[in-house]
Amino acid sequence: MDSVTNLEQRSPTTPASSGAGLGYGIIDQPMRQVEARLRQELQSRYEQLAPILRHGALLGGKRMRPALVLLAAEAVGEAGEAHVTIATVLEMVHTATLVHDDVLDSAQQRRHVPTVNAKWDEQTSILLGDYLFAQSFYLSATLDDTRACRWIGEAARRVCEGELRQVHSRDVLDLDEAAYLSIVQGKTAELCSVACRLGAAYAGADEVTVERLSNYGDALGIAFQIADDFLDLWGDSDQTGKTLGTDLWQGKMTLPLIRLLQTSDAAQRETILQILSGPAADRLPAITPLLAASDARDYTRRRAQEFVDTALAAISSLPDSPAQAMLQKLARFAIDRRF
Ligand code: IPE
Ligand code: IPE
Ligand code: MG
Ligand code: MG
Repeated sequence: MDSVTNLEQRSPTTPASSGAGLGYGIIDQPMRQVEARLRQELQSRYEQLAPILRHGALLGGKRMRPALVLLAAEAVGEAGEAHVTIATVLEMVHTATLVHDDVLDSAQQRRHVPTVNAKWDEQTSILLGDYLFAQSFYLSATLDDTRACRWIGEAARRVCEGELRQVHSRDVLDLDEAAYLSIVQGKTAELCSVACRLGAAYAGADEVTVERLSNYGDALGIAFQIADDFLDLWGDSDQTGKTLGTDLWQGKMTLPLIRLLQTSDAAQRETILQILSGPAADRLPAITPLLAASDARDYTRRRAQEFVDTALAAISSLPDSPAQAMLQKLARFAIDRRF
């Protein structure tokens, strides 16, 4: 049962293994099925496309959304065929958003390998993301009932709303914490929430239980993104396997910066505004000492912990089971992780 902790012990210099190798304990077997399904669904009859699909969608990744589907199912009943399909669809949707996100952020590395935009070009990334979205629509429509299709479609739209709102909040220096959290809820938490919602619903859980798991996924997703924003400033790219520092570079207002601005006096705010309106490459070295002298780091951790506590509370009334224990571990991992 320490497998989530084992996640943290993976050698930082080794390219990330795929989710099947991560060790999510009791769901290792269906996770392997998800991995096989991804490979099967992402085959192209055109040999020329095989390396793009493989590189962009099959290498590495924590496979957290598939794990959430399967664990939510096991926490309330049993994970079956439909769960494997749903888990595969959600990983495809997630990967599509990452491939597009790396274009938005001009990122060079993802999952320990060059991004699709770095290895090929932005046109390839746009089309690969579209390919993954298209294949995920197809696959979710193979399920007998239409709930998965509707819920995943709605969640994917909300993810895009979150990303769009973020792009249109660039350099908006008075973006407050509530607006930040609302963007994060869309761009990251929606997919985690729908993963848990579907996992539980397709295992036959009653409405109240489905809602609890959905709330768990929502709070976990917010905590996960706050931790990601923390790692963007204070993480180690050898461990995360992705380009860091892109948030400041792109003018993204994340929680540490919002807190710093909120707790600065007028003179310091002016200094920060000048830094943020200056050359992108100079921002990180100039802001780092100001962040270090403030409570932004501790505050960010504290807020992330509060969302983990909310996630844990949401599933506290589920019967004790290995799956419930793994969901608890996953919530803690969301913010204790270094990658
Ligand atoms: C990255 O998600 C994007 C965010 C929501 C922060 P993950 O950290 O789950 O990415 P992979 O799938 O493991 O690469
Ligand atoms: C998350 O935001 C992206 C999506 C939810 C699509 P980030 O831009 O912070 O994600 P990373 O850090 O590039 O993985
Ligand atoms: Mg990014
Ligand atoms: Mg990030």
